Amino acid sequence: MNLRANSNQQKRKPAILLEDVSLVHRGSPILKDITLKVDIPECVTIIGHNGAGKTTLLKLICGLIRPTRGKVQILGKSLEGKTTLLQRRLAFLPQDVNIDPRMPISVEEVVEIGRFGKAWFARKSPDDIRVIERAMEVTGIVDLRRKPFGLLSAGQKQRVALARALAQDASIMLLDEPLSNLDPQAQEDICKAIDRIYESQRVTILLVTHLIEKIPQSCSTMLRMEKGRIVGEIKPSSYTYRSPTESGATPEPDHLR
Ligand SMILES: Nc1ncnc2c1ncn2[C@@H]1O[C@H](COP(=O)(O)OP(=O)(O)OP(=O)(O)O)[C@@H](O)[C@H]1O
Ligand SMILES: [Mg+2]
Repeated sequence: MNLRANSNQQKRKPAILLEDVSLVHRGSPILKDITLKVDIPECVTIIGHNGAGKTTLLKLICGLIRPTRGKVQILGKSLEGKTTLLQRRLAFLPQDVNIDPRMPISVEEVVEIGRFGKAWFARKSPDDIRVIERAMEVTGIVDLRRKPFGLLSAGQKQRVALARALAQDASIMLLDEPLSNLDPQAQEDICKAIDRIYESQRVTILLVTHLIEKIPQSCSTMLRMEKGRIVGEIKPSSYTYRSPTESGATPEPDHLR
């Protein structure tokens, strides 16, 4: 068995591969002819107006939704059939972080949920402890670890949610608007945390955002979605910004207009 050839072959496989993917829900097309390849490691941002299909695309990539047509591969394997192991390689930070603030649970315990699922009281191995500590360090929440989660500010909660996703130690992180509802300082903190995650762990990151003026530096590509399609791709180094319009619409790079 040629292990070297195998490992090289593995490296060449993209983290995410979608070919001609479409999704129709009750007769309404939601995603249309999506073809997308994201390498290992790569940080890609997705922008687009409300309802463009960004969240649906992330849900489809992590296997929560099946496409009506087309091929979805994660790390070279189809999400069809036995998906549990493959899904552990994907961490999904949803748009609405669903942690009940009334739950009497500390910050550290919330992060542990990322590691163990519901069994967050499970016995931790040295490896588990290392991953959990690293997740808290990278997201800057070590000082908050004993605090009740419900008492945190929105920005702190967002960082904890990011740490929880990170504690899964996944190869691919799907982050759905992790900067929403945060003040400018907290947005920058999260961007820096995403950069640290990318730099230190070389994970593949797919990041949905409406804030093109706040993109993590590690982001190499920006995709724009419109009405269920990917309609543009640019490199962030060539962004040109427009002022926000009076209507408050998201400013978009001229290249994508
Ligand atoms: N479970 C569902 N059932 C029916 N339609 C849905 C469902 N989820 C999403 N949609 C529809 O799919 C389209 C895309 O929704 P999606 O949530 O992916 O948009 P989005 O780009 O994430 O928007 P936003 O920026 O507001 O988060 C919308 O028209 C929405 O109404
Ligand atoms: Mg969304």
